Amino acid sequence: MRQKKLKFVSREMLFEQGVYEHVPKINLDKPIHMEIGSGKGQFICTLAKDNPNIQFIAVEMNMSVCYRILEKKINMHLDNLIIILANIETLFEEFPRHAVDRIYLNFSDPWPKARHHKRRLTYPRFIKNYLAMLKNDGLLQFRTDHLDFFNDSLEYLEPFFKKMNIDRNLKESNYMTEYEEKKRKFGPIYQVIAEVNND
Ligand SMILES: C[S@@+](CC[C@H](N)C(=O)[O-])C[C@H]1O[C@@H](n2cnc3c(N)ncnc32)[C@H](O)[C@@H]1O
Repeated sequence: MRQKKLKFVSREMLFEQGVYEHVPKINLDKPIHMEIGSGKGQFICTLAKDNPNIQFIAVEMNMSVCYRILEKKINMHLDNLIIILANIETLFEEFPRHAVDRIYLNFSDPWPKARHHKRRLTYPRFIKNYLAMLKNDGLLQFRTDHLDFFNDSLEYLEPFFKKMNIDRNLKESNYMTEYEEKKRKFGPIYQVIAEVNND
């Protein structure tokens, strides 16, 4: 779902309204769930509304799209949602280690050309960083409509995770992104939930 560039949105305006540029101090007493590449934020905002005791973090690098998450946060009064405007790659060093319970990747860019595969958010260089952020009983949940991207991602994940729960025809739920709502009309949605389970 494309978002036109919003001319009235600037980085300064987002930061003034509480969007972060870096990882802020996070209350580690609460469970932490983060979504990387949140898009317009429907998935994480709905989860945050229904789970006030969980601290949610949305990371999105596109300014106009990020504004759409901020609108939802304000309208839905979500005190438990932190929004970070940044490329996740610039934040890895800043996150406390092994503090995150769940990472969600929803309809990440599939980068279909082989020479671009290393840009995929499921690529091993990203997975290594996710594992440094996730708790020992943490989960990584990845959802897409792109079959090749899904199958390749299972191969990337397999060496790092002991258990993977795979669904090749995910049912509709209350927690769907803007992309998922759009893509469902055209075919199955694939999901894997990978468990760290390092014990
Ligand atoms: C295809 S869209 C999907 C958006 C949303 N997850 C959905 O399902 O509707 C991918 C989103 O990920 C964001 N993104 C891609 N790479 C990113 C990165 N390295 N760090 C943060 N956001 C990223 C893009 O800006 C874009 O909004």
